[in-house]
Amino acid sequence: MSLVVQKKIDLKSYTTMGVHSIAENFIEVSTIEELIEALKWAKEYEFPTFILGGGSNVVMPEHLQGLVIANRIMGRQVDHLKNDKVLIRVGGGEGWHSMVSWTVENQWYGLENLALIPGLVGAAPIQNIGAYGVEVKDAILRVQYLDKQSLTTHWISKEECLFGYRDSIFKQQLREKVIIVAVEFELQKKGEIKAEYESLKAYLEDKSIVNPTQKEVFDAVVAVRKSRLPDPNVLGNCGSFFKNPVVRAETFESLKKENPEIKAYPLGNGLFKLAAGWLIDQAVGKGYRKGVMGTYEHQALVVVHHGGGSSRDVQAFVEEIRLKVLQKFHLELEAEVQLV
Ligand code: EPU
Repeated sequence: MSLVVQKKIDLKSYTTMGVHSIAENFIEVSTIEELIEALKWAKEYEFPTFILGGGSNVVMPEHLQGLVIANRIMGRQVDHLKNDKVLIRVGGGEGWHSMVSWTVENQWYGLENLALIPGLVGAAPIQNIGAYGVEVKDAILRVQYLDKQSLTTHWISKEECLFGYRDSIFKQQLREKVIIVAVEFELQKKGEIKAEYESLKAYLEDKSIVNPTQKEVFDAVVAVRKSRLPDPNVLGNCGSFFKNPVVRAETFESLKKENPEIKAYPLGNGLFKLAAGWLIDQAVGKGYRKGVMGTYEHQALVVVHHGGGSSRDVQAFVEEIRLKVLQKFHLELEAEVQLV
């Protein structure tokens, strides 16, 4: 097999933030065998490797030595199980939204609330993507990865993935050690509709939809996302830039005393998740702009890039946001997006 290594590729159009970034070496792989070949090639030259999925949750440096591997491993397999369940096994390089649309067309329930999230299937488990009251862990059964060291593949169960809020083993112990090549989901043929999330519920009520079908939830999520989040083809962004901070009840109570309007969700165990979007909105506002960077005009949690910037611009801007939130609320925001 002959690998096609492209030289000095600008990754700007491979990432949704759209900052300039030159990769010395770049390969697209469409099978596990090609992926192994690419890793062997990098090992031979002692190049570090970086795996690029849909580029929607990452900010790349101006210059990247080593090898960037773009995951294009496709494939969808379906197994109809007993008890009205269906098991689907999907290649890590498949587009997330197109896969979700396909499950909705087939009326397999479970992923409709996660419509229109940018990125690839293989990236979804890494940060346990979530939206509108659902997290991907709710539907995952197993994840298959390639170990970069041994070059062997392994399946791990949902429990072994150690999923948390925007977190998993792939961000912790297995960080940079493995590449996700496939994900197995268990979906339901007679599913439960989840439409309690505030903005989703408000949208459906506004449209006088009382008992929404799966397709109506899917369409509503698409509409709400389009109205709240910028289209990366028009304006560079990575969705929510920071995680919603989780604090103890005492911290929440004292913040609430000073800020009666603060937005928070009780998580149980005396913990509260605060809306980072609200905190940033108070600290700098929506549509705040500094040079080529800014916060989105409808959602302060989304950092936007107006064009022509580099990862340094992104870094400086997010540091400013973090500092302003720290000064105002004494809270440290943690980035959800990976800054390479
Ligand atoms: N809010 C403001 N001002 C803002 C933004 C938000 O006051 O500028 C308030 C809203 O009014 C609302 C609360 O903050 O009361 C929460 O806002 P929203 O419902 O938009 O959700 P979020 O917590 O900001 C999370 C996810 C999003 C996901 C939405 C919808 C995180 C970090 N973000 O955002 O995920 O789409 O819920 O479920 O958990 C992503 O991860 O990239 C992402 C977009």
